[in-house]
Amino acid sequence: MIGIFDSGVGGMTVARAVETLLPDYQFIYYGDLARTPYGSKSSEAIIEYSIENTEFLIEHGAKVIIIACNSAASVASDILRRKFTQPVFEVISPAVERAVTSTVHGNIGVIGTRATIRSGIYDLKIKQLGPKLRVFSQACPLLVPLVEEGWLDARETKMILRKYLTPLKQKQIDTLVLGCTHYPLLKDLIEHRMGKKRTRLIDSSIEAALTLKKYLNDNPVFCKSMQRGSKNKYFVSDITKAAVATAEKIFGRPIDLEKV
Ligand code: DGL
Repeated sequence: MIGIFDSGVGGMTVARAVETLLPDYQFIYYGDLARTPYGSKSSEAIIEYSIENTEFLIEHGAKVIIIACNSAASVASDILRRKFTQPVFEVISPAVERAVTSTVHGNIGVIGTRATIRSGIYDLKIKQLGPKLRVFSQACPLLVPLVEEGWLDARETKMILRKYLTPLKQKQIDTLVLGCTHYPLLKDLIEHRMGKKRTRLIDSSIEAALTLKKYLNDNPVFCKSMQRGSKNKYFVSDITKAAVATAEKIFGRPIDLEKV
């Protein structure tokens, strides 16, 4: 079974990509809604929560973990890999690889929460793969609440996006990493603002699912040990109306959230 965790329901963009790309595998999702958002928390708190979330998933049968939260992945990936024997995947490295191979002029933009941008992880990983590439990062703390309010097409959302994205546009980026679980829901607006032909958007949820798919194809013995086929489960540490609505928006159907 694949274990996926996030600070809330935004990570369901990753679960959705897993469902689409790996339909034969069962997954269990854990959204830490009681302690969301992670993006404004200290690294120490995010690491502690990430360890607890991983333990929960493993106790419930997960054989492989996906950190479906950029904020958690930015500070906790290495720690989880050292602490647990199960393979740990995350949303950052696959998006970085795709961005590095996609850029034409070498100007890459990254948007994310304050925690993700503060960690400098995208900058570090991109420069490791392409030392000459230029990375322009922008924290966008207002976007998660806007998505959770369902303001996906509101005038205010467009205005705030313009404020965040204009500096990146001025840097003439040709590739933009959506470094937060919630941003795929704003893809159309972001694409419109940046110019579809000028800037390629990298959706970390899809890239993470593709990486796991490749790992499972390359490791048939491990792949065999994974339980397949039964119903996916969605656990959360709290339930709110906004979370139920966001989950439904991501999957395009009602999702049964179970509070634990
Ligand atoms: N899941 C978080 C991320 O991808 C966004 C929400 C939060 O701040 O907890 O960074």
